[in-house]
Amino acid sequence: MIVRLHDARFAYQDGPPVLDGVSLALPEGRATALLGRNGGGKTTLLRLLSGGLRPTAGRLLLRGEPVSYDRAGLTRLRTTVQLVVQDPDDQLFAASVEQDVSFGPMNLGLPEDAVRARVDEALQALDITGLRDRPTHLLSYGQRKRAAIAGAVAMRPSVLVLDEPTAGLDPHGQERLLDLLGRLRDGGTTVVMATHDVDLALRWADDAAVLAPDGLRTGPAARLLTDQGLLDAARLRRPWGAAVSAVLRAHGLLAEGDPGPRTAEDLARWLPAAT
Ligand SMILES: Nc1ncnc2c1ncn2[C@@H]1O[C@H](COP(=O)(O)OP(=O)(O)OP(=O)(O)O)[C@@H](O)[C@H]1O
Ligand SMILES: [Mg+2]
Repeated sequence: MIVRLHDARFAYQDGPPVLDGVSLALPEGRATALLGRNGGGKTTLLRLLSGGLRPTAGRLLLRGEPVSYDRAGLTRLRTTVQLVVQDPDDQLFAASVEQDVSFGPMNLGLPEDAVRARVDEALQALDITGLRDRPTHLLSYGQRKRAAIAGAVAMRPSVLVLDEPTAGLDPHGQERLLDLLGRLRDGGTTVVMATHDVDLALRWADDAAVLAPDGLRTGPAARLLTDQGLLDAARLRRPWGAAVSAVLRAHGLLAEGDPGPRTAEDLARWLPAAT
């Protein structure tokens, strides 16, 4: 387990606990989707995982060792876990896209050509090579979002944590991002994404973490996101794939335990074999 939050509780100042008794283990090279209603605590949970907030009770473990919240401990955590925040304006600060994306790698003390290689790669992965010299404050929202993600990707973290990264991206940009995150995952990076998109979660994630009123539920995405009771409790829409599978089952075309197709492409592959 690369990062593990154990029995964590968190409350802002004098407020009520936002999270209580929350445990989440992130194994190496898995993709996890974090879902739950507005104000449910997704952003809070991601900030606990990346060390921006400290649990008021419980522990955060990095490779099995409790994280110490001093300078050295937090530096170690942040070189392993990179968070891309929900609002790109809270993340971008340098004058140009290139400066912003190169800031992190430069801070790692890497030689100039290594920094350049990482920046080139990250800009290309996010389709923003052409925006390299543009002032970040003149970019569109989706462009700023991509620039913020590029900055985290350029750090090549072991754990990449993204807070609603696809929100505001056009469909092509969303697919490019999902491809990129899939490739990072296949290369051993642990990826965690908060999202409201249940369809995206079902087709992209290995595991799901769902904030429901009675706490955080975790497990394989295909199981959790087809659990109608959980979906209702967490106020989540039923994913398209789950709805289609229910229709197929009702018509006797799909066996009870069979998870069925998750996307239209899955369905197209599955139909000829089943009929
Ligand atoms: N800085 C803060 N100070 C006080 N309360 C906060 C602060 N940030 C968040 N909260 C409260 O904590 C709760 C959880 O908020 P959080 O942002 O974690 O939810 P979320 O699941 O990310 O929501 P969304 O889907 O809207 O992004 C909310 O009730 C929110 O009002
Ligand atoms: Mg949030």
